[in-house]
Amino acid sequence: MWGSRFSAPPAEAFDAFQRSLPFDRRLFPYELAADRAWARALAAAGVLTAEETSRILAALEDLAQQVQAQPALLHSSTAEDVHSFVEQQLQERLGPLGAKLHTGRSRNDLVATEFRLFVKEAVRETAHAVAALIAAFLDQAEAHTDVPMPGSTHLQHAQPILLAHYLLAHAEAFFRDVHRLLRVRESADACPLGSGALAGCAFPIDRIAIARELGFARITANSLDAVSDRDFALEYLFALTLTATHLSRLAEDLVLFASPEFGFVVLPDAFSTGSSLMPQKKNPDAWELIRGKTGRILGALVGLLVTLKALPAGYQRDLQEDKEAVFSAHDQVVTMVRIATGAIAATTFVADRLRQAAADPALLATEAADFLVARGVPFREAHEIVGRICREAEQRGVPWTQLPLETLRAFSPHLDSSLREMLTTEAALARRSVPGGTAPETVRRALANARARLRELEAAL
Ligand code: ARG
Repeated sequence: MWGSRFSAPPAEAFDAFQRSLPFDRRLFPYELAADRAWARALAAAGVLTAEETSRILAALEDLAQQVQAQPALLHSSTAEDVHSFVEQQLQERLGPLGAKLHTGRSRNDLVATEFRLFVKEAVRETAHAVAALIAAFLDQAEAHTDVPMPGSTHLQHAQPILLAHYLLAHAEAFFRDVHRLLRVRESADACPLGSGALAGCAFPIDRIAIARELGFARITANSLDAVSDRDFALEYLFALTLTATHLSRLAEDLVLFASPEFGFVVLPDAFSTGSSLMPQKKNPDAWELIRGKTGRILGALVGLLVTLKALPAGYQRDLQEDKEAVFSAHDQVVTMVRIATGAIAATTFVADRLRQAAADPALLATEAADFLVARGVPFREAHEIVGRICREAEQRGVPWTQLPLETLRAFSPHLDSSLREMLTTEAALARRSVPGGTAPETVRRALANARARLRELEAAL
């Protein structure tokens, strides 16, 4: 392909080192699409005759079918990359005519084009998977609209919330992921073909027609930039990393919730494993692996950033490192999302245990402060009064809600028997009815709203 100015072939070890076919063969369908579009563009520019063009298109079709019937043709080829594989195959089929297709183009603009096509498709697959995960959260939320649980900050009991509110919180993160993926698709949606190796194509090809044929929204603006821009790949890796991070945080919750100390969930057998030694064990391996694999997704993002950071303008062979990072992060994250979806859908939330944990009187301390505020006490002062009450209760070794009213009144004369009405989980939940809050009515509305947003998103994918 490029050997005539060389007097010796590459060393065997170097050849193996530099070949990308073992992984970039995944771009084969996009290579064929780019080849077809390029053949038509060369025809329109008068470089190929109509007859030559249809012979090239027929040979590409023939190659597509042969590879489908016999994948080994592609998998065991010794070609350097997927681009040279197709060129070799065309020459075998068409002789000198096969050598005409590469007129005016370079593997640099080809690979940039095909990689963008891959990312656009990959984004769709990931977004669909994440949408299914959101649906699993909404279903679980719907099944638990009346179950309270202790809400925590710093892993310390804070205020009661609804389990459905908790589940919808995770769903929100994944909603943002889908929107982010759509923005990545937008970034990738520009066609570099026609940029040549770096300077642009010297034949009058219609770049807009090529872009349209390949399903791109627009063409790239600058040929030198287009052959080395991998922002879209980085943006996709970032989106994958953030989805993995959201999954990892969810995993951390579920690992804790499944522990006997919490006992908030029973993990589904189908997504758990046992111990080879301890017969009683049921381990949250699905979630641990999701949390663990997040490390390598982040690694792929950082790795590509490091690869790109010192590259001079134009194509450099370092850029070949982009594909394995993206392919493998994509495959991993799609699998992680699907496993999480199955595991969430099949998880049993232990309503009694959650209710019991939510009944911890400590979760109602804010209510007493709010009660005092309603009696005109400045919030800071109210906070301090209730803090002193909590300390007193701690010293006496009783829950603060069980201190006699006289004792409470010694801390503030504003405290009277009507405080008791506020000191229930239900009352605390119901008071938080601002949009975004955890009041049952509000959460029901939030759930309906989330369903509508999910339908809209799915239509946009
Ligand atoms: N295999 C190469 C890659 O993935 C294709 C472009 C090769 N270009 C070159 N000038 N050697 O980046």
